[in-house]
Amino acid sequence: MSTAGKVIKCKAAVVWEVNKPFSIVEIEVAPPKAHEVRIKILASGVCRSDEHVLSGALQCGECSACKHPRGNLCKMSDLGVSTGLMPDGTSRFTYKGQQVHTFASTSTFTEYTVVHESSVVKIDAAAPPEKVCLIGCGFSTGYGAAINSAKVEPGSTCAVFGLGGVGLSTVMGCKAAGASQIIGVDINKDKFPKAKEMGATECVNPLDFKKPINEVLFDLTDGEGVDYSFEVIGRTDTMTAALASCHMNYGTSVIVGVPPSASEITFSPALIFTGRTWKGSIFGGWKSKDAVPKLVSDYMGGKFVLDPLITHTLPFDKINKGFELLRSGKSIRSVLVF
Ligand code: APR
Ligand code: ZN
Repeated sequence: MSTAGKVIKCKAAVVWEVNKPFSIVEIEVAPPKAHEVRIKILASGVCRSDEHVLSGALQCGECSACKHPRGNLCKMSDLGVSTGLMPDGTSRFTYKGQQVHTFASTSTFTEYTVVHESSVVKIDAAAPPEKVCLIGCGFSTGYGAAINSAKVEPGSTCAVFGLGGVGLSTVMGCKAAGASQIIGVDINKDKFPKAKEMGATECVNPLDFKKPINEVLFDLTDGEGVDYSFEVIGRTDTMTAALASCHMNYGTSVIVGVPPSASEITFSPALIFTGRTWKGSIFGGWKSKDAVPKLVSDYMGGKFVLDPLITHTLPFDKINKGFELLRSGKSIRSVLVF
């Protein structure tokens, strides 16, 4: 039976209040308007960014960011303003007739969603959804931070702060780019074996040292500091520590972790004055619509692996369990299947 033009009733995970668990409820999903697509969700990853109520990247192809060769944060995206609505200022979701907000203009914790055409790509039909869903966010964010945003060169030295799903993807990106030394930094030593499996040459726990971690990293790099450091946690103190860890003159530090909202950083201008570069990276610097189908083909072609990042696969209605695993640090990535 065709559902074209009709409302679809389906299950969705909704949070009614900040810091409350998801409730699985039946919602109504309106038909798509012009330039929108209604899609059935097959799989979705659970990311720290969801916790930060931030994610995704879109590509309309028309705005100044999309048209610039180095731009990738489309102005259509909800990330800058975060209205919780579609680009036209409305939502396609209702619960008992009342409007339910969308998330990052995509909303994937639902059996059906409606997205703007700028948020949809066609990928290889043979690709397994429960794996390649990570390319829609976490993997590409971490991997691209090394490949595109830092442009890590062969033989260079790198430090990755935070060895969660995104940080491990950054480690993979550094390795793929040919870095000779990749130092993983995490306060949870349980993350170290997998980081080494993914390419980290050594791992350090800041809690094991009396001196600041940037000094530890200088010690590990003959007093030079790393060529590239990445903050993949989302904390202001580690953002500054990562900056201070890179070479004082030509080092580059990349902020990948989503900064806590309404936070500010105080740092010595001397850190930058001596020549360091400090930059941010969103969705790994990829232009999403161009890059995602290509990354899926690269995965299918064996250019990188995703399996080690997926520690749990859960049915969609176990979504709260997925977030518990994330908060407790027991999972790298949980994938929800529908
Ligand atoms: N110093 C070092 N490591 C830390 C610290 C700290 N002060 N605090 C937390 N960590 C480690 C955690 O132990 C964990 O292994 O950082 C890691 C973060 O990993 P996850 O929580 O799994 O987060 P992830 O999904 O990888 O996302 C990381 O990238 O895209 C963003 O929104 C995302 O800000 C988030 C970041
Ligand atoms: Zn755009």
